[in-house]
Amino acid sequence: MGKIILTGDRPTGRLHIGHYVGSLRRRVELQNSGEYDKIFIMIADAQALTDNADNPEKVRQNIIEVALDYLSAGLDPEKSTLFIQSQVSELTELTFFYMNLVTVQRLQRNPTVKQEIQMRGFSDSGEDNKAGTPVGFFCYPISQAADITAFKATTVPVGEDQAPMLEQTREIVHKFNTVYGPTLVMPDILLPDNAACMRLPGTDGKAKMSKSLGNCIYLSDSAEEVKAKVRSMYTDPGHLQVSDPGKVEGNTVFTYLDAFCKPEHFDKFASCFVGKKVSFEFHNLEEVKDQYRRGGLGDVMIKNFLNEVLNDTLEPIRKRRKELEQDISYVYEVLRKGSEVARAAAAETLADVKRSMRINYFDQGVLEALIEEQKAKYSL
Ligand code: TRP
Repeated sequence: MGKIILTGDRPTGRLHIGHYVGSLRRRVELQNSGEYDKIFIMIADAQALTDNADNPEKVRQNIIEVALDYLSAGLDPEKSTLFIQSQVSELTELTFFYMNLVTVQRLQRNPTVKQEIQMRGFSDSGEDNKAGTPVGFFCYPISQAADITAFKATTVPVGEDQAPMLEQTREIVHKFNTVYGPTLVMPDILLPDNAACMRLPGTDGKAKMSKSLGNCIYLSDSAEEVKAKVRSMYTDPGHLQVSDPGKVEGNTVFTYLDAFCKPEHFDKFASCFVGKKVSFEFHNLEEVKDQYRRGGLGDVMIKNFLNEVLNDTLEPIRKRRKELEQDISYVYEVLRKGSEVARAAAAETLADVKRSMRINYFDQGVLEALIEEQKAKYSL
């Protein structure tokens, strides 16, 4: 059995740097490691529609945005299959069969779904059918199990918020294989290896980077936009004067540095720490943090450094995006071809599933046996 990756994103907006450190950067590394036999990257438009039923245009517009972000971040269609979820109808069929293996109560206990229902105000008792939870939304963890198993994924690189989905998928796989015999592959989650990447806060220090909170830095932001956002970032509110000791924990600038800083940055951007009054020479992030804790290192300096560090990562992505934006037909062709490949892979699993469930009545050889079986019943 090979090593196979499946992961994806809902196309509800452009991807931000939280997506990047939480999952996208890892995918590119895994892709280029050559250790995986197949890599499937899915634009989950059908899942996005589960809470955007009345806004399909938003989802439709963002498919290309996410695809542009993927390709510019380094996903390579020669190595990874990029596809659109709704174009693989086998996934819906799998979902329908898996629905029988999951209880409503179990879905209600899924912490991510619980939280999302609350955030979207779905839990308010619905008058005139205005509020309430769409059934499709409630069931999306089951459809996610279909996404993962359809491609026989062994590895699912995602952020921490997706851990409950993986847990449910594993339960479904276990249940299916127990009831119908060994059929589905048991997947493992692959979480970011650094706490800062696990859940990158917004620029305002709020727990999560999210479009609705307006606290995102997008992969497609211009250098000027990034600079302005970094300048307005939340640091340590107690660090009023440069000479005051500063706090590093919970200081968003340092969280971002934890997520983005590379050893070579200290040499490359040493000039950020050369000031009119004071200058520092740092060789690693620990030294910067120690100085900040002691006092004397100002927010302007660390923000300038962060801005350089971010741009070091974002500039090549931005450049590739500009090129790809001029070649939209190529991007759609990548998705069209990828969706064809994905569909063929999912069809194999669906056939396995139907075979195991013995609902493959008209398969070669099966019909003949079925006729014999029924004939015997009636010829007594
Ligand atoms: N739920 C994921 C998100 O919100 C998207 C997604 C859909 C996904 N199906 C998946 C991720 C399967 C990993 C595996 O971004």
